[in-house]
Amino acid sequence: MKTRDPQTFHVKSFGCQMNVYDGDRMAELLEAEGMRAAADGADADLVVLNTCHIREKAAEKVYSDIGRLMKRKNAPAPMIAVAGCVAQAEGAEIVRRAPGVDIVVGPQAYHNLPALVREAKAGRPALDTGMPLLSKFGALPARRRQGPSAFLTVQEGCDKFCTYCVVPYTRGAEISRPFAAIIDEAKALIDAGAKEITLLGQNVNAWRGGAGEGLEDLIRALDALPGLARIRYTTSHPADMTCGLIRAHAEVEKLMPYLHLPVQSGSGRILKAMNRSHSAQSYLAIIERVRAARPGIAISGDFIVGFPGESDADFEETLNIVEAVNYAQAFSFKYSPRPGTPAAEMEDRIPAQVMDERLQRLQALLNAQQLAFNQAKVGRRCEVLLERTGRKPGQLAGKSPWLQSVHLETDATIGDIVEVELLSAGPNSLAGRHTAALFPGEGRGPVSSSAPLDPGLRRGTARAAA
Ligand code: 5AD
Ligand code: SF4
Repeated sequence: MKTRDPQTFHVKSFGCQMNVYDGDRMAELLEAEGMRAAADGADADLVVLNTCHIREKAAEKVYSDIGRLMKRKNAPAPMIAVAGCVAQAEGAEIVRRAPGVDIVVGPQAYHNLPALVREAKAGRPALDTGMPLLSKFGALPARRRQGPSAFLTVQEGCDKFCTYCVVPYTRGAEISRPFAAIIDEAKALIDAGAKEITLLGQNVNAWRGGAGEGLEDLIRALDALPGLARIRYTTSHPADMTCGLIRAHAEVEKLMPYLHLPVQSGSGRILKAMNRSHSAQSYLAIIERVRAARPGIAISGDFIVGFPGESDADFEETLNIVEAVNYAQAFSFKYSPRPGTPAAEMEDRIPAQVMDERLQRLQALLNAQQLAFNQAKVGRRCEVLLERTGRKPGQLAGKSPWLQSVHLETDATIGDIVEVELLSAGPNSLAGRHTAALFPGEGRGPVSSSAPLDPGLRRGTARAAA
């Protein structure tokens, strides 16, 4: 038996933050249709699998999930919708391979999800992988569901065509949402309780406004919105790291000291074969300028090992650039050939074992850098935005300005920004204690502390300027 008249739903998002954003918006759409969110996928009547196609492993996950849902014992099999980039890339092929799927909807078409659910209720297979010229955003309901930290998609798609990447095919050409629509959405998010907004785009720093504005103008406009305390943006391409945007890191108080700037490889030869349009040297020059603008800024990156033709010497150059940058955080992957991309046709593929060894060496170095970055914060004070319950009873967890997870005991509530003395650090999180603020008139914390405010924050935080 299969559910035909769904009353409850669950959206499961895989992959990047853009998918998390899309998943939230699909949930808002379904709620506007009168459906209720189920606590999890185990007994939901409609399960939306919001998929990722960036690497093979990510794409295969969806099929094992579909199999599990079809066989679930505690409830009839749900109505299943496959959304996201696998839906876009594979379309009707998904239903041939997994006949349990009722709906296939691409990332540019999910505003049609309610109509697709109606089709599926009538027992008809429902597919929409269109990439309409008119943006889906105008057809979505106003923002409602939010926590203290919210995502806001401002730009979608990519025109860079790195030779390994499916994004230009699954998400389509670069489009920027209009300035006014973004500000309206930001205001709605703030009204719904957001203290931090992360501007999202596959190439977020390629965002352009109708009057030629750049991302820095958007950041400055958000800076002026009362109630918003923190601004972040991700993911950026080195080619779009303009002087204006770098200057914003020096001047905009609410812009957090964190930059995710993927380099992928340290070898000029491989960067060329990847069609990255930057060299190792030009990347390092950008990092130097960003650090001059915002001393202490946390730099994060993405890396691919085992791109076709990558020699031992090329890989050594990747290790060299990691040494030169000294990352606070990073994501590294084994190259995965994606159907339809130029690199998938390239010869000189790297054996799996070599890729494994390289990934291990790279990750050992990156993990050591991350731990050192975290440890260097111990004994200092900074602000933490409380976002969720922590590991232990009485604990809450949140993010430091450098996007580290911090756990602490506190009577404060989720959504508060509290001053914290950092007491210990592991590779993935820190522990701290809630302290009274350093600045007069703002002390709400339970204990006073003589730990110094992190020097990277001295010029820049909202409190320091107060
Ligand atoms: N293989 C491995 N990693 C990839 N990425 C993108 N495409 C591939 C691929 N085919 C990585 C890049 C990118 C991140 C989101 O995923 O590092 O920055
Ligand atoms: Fe993919 Fe390159 Fe575009 Fe990033 S810049 S989304 S890696 S094609």
